[in-house]
Amino acid sequence: MTGRSGLAQWDIVSGVGFTALLVAAGRAVQTSDPAGLVNDPFAALFVDRARTSPPLPTRPGEPWPTAADDEAVAARTDAFWALMSRFQGVRSRFFDAALTGAAERGAGQVVLLAAGLDARAFRLDWPEGAVIYEIDQPRVLEFKDEVLAEHGAEPRCTRRTVPVDLRDDWAGALRAAGFDPARPTAWLAEGLLTFLPAAAEEELLTTVEGLSAPGSALAVEYFARAYSAMVEGAVLPEFAKPFGVDMSALTDPDHRADPAQRLASTGWRVTSRAAEEVARSYGRPLPTAALGLPFDTALITAELPH
Ligand SMILES: C[S@@+](CC[C@H](N)C(=O)[O-])C[C@H]1O[C@@H](n2cnc3c(N)ncnc32)[C@H](O)[C@@H]1O
Repeated sequence: MTGRSGLAQWDIVSGVGFTALLVAAGRAVQTSDPAGLVNDPFAALFVDRARTSPPLPTRPGEPWPTAADDEAVAARTDAFWALMSRFQGVRSRFFDAALTGAAERGAGQVVLLAAGLDARAFRLDWPEGAVIYEIDQPRVLEFKDEVLAEHGAEPRCTRRTVPVDLRDDWAGALRAAGFDPARPTAWLAEGLLTFLPAAAEEELLTTVEGLSAPGSALAVEYFARAYSAMVEGAVLPEFAKPFGVDMSALTDPDHRADPAQRLASTGWRVTSRAAEEVARSYGRPLPTAALGLPFDTALITAELPH
């Protein structure tokens, strides 16, 4: 389906919209695990309300539903889910700290690029005056707002949704929603870059840089290499098949440079940590061995000096 801009549109159970539900399911698993890395009480509400068939797992140890009656496929998708749901916890905790830290240091204008079902506006403590802008496709944000309203959820800061495609004039839509490029901003691109064509990724980072006042911060992960290994290792094409989604078709095979290098070359002070090392530092190592594929992923934070 295409919208007025001529760009493809999706909802929460189709195409790349479904990936927002997947990561919410990962956070739900983490939330119901006593040793979980994130407490996101909204995650399971979103997953329940989407009523997928089959249902998505939301508790630790629940098997991943497989379409094929094939034990090898089931073992592979289970191993992948165990890894991804743990990774969601690691990534969420890491980016929670990056964003709230940046807001406390003065970047109280926060932009979630591809917010999906991110509930940080509702579940984290924000400094006085903080404003969060949430950008995503219209139908994804509609679904999110419906569920939040049904549960009477109240944001813990000012929250403004910006329904727009990130391949379109999202900067114009963001400004129209009140964004002020003269103020330092904390940007987050979590679970996004892999799903943008390489040219759109480049344009997005250039636009972010153009809108970033001194003192701004950016958090993003470099997941493209791990994603390619999973497509080539055949786990991704199988993974979301029971839900009618082919995850391997959601990205294009363009070469992706590491955003850390690009940001460093344009004046950002960059820190890049391997996700596996961050997970070990939280005492929750990533269970990569069962999958037998490299998980070459970095969690990146960057700051523009004052
Ligand atoms: C894996 S989810 C991540 C969502 C959220 N950042 C999180 O971590 O919970 C990917 C999100 O990117 C959004 N997305 C992907 N391409 C987009 C585009 N071109 N414009 C707007 N949103 C996009 C999808 O709708 C989806 O919500």
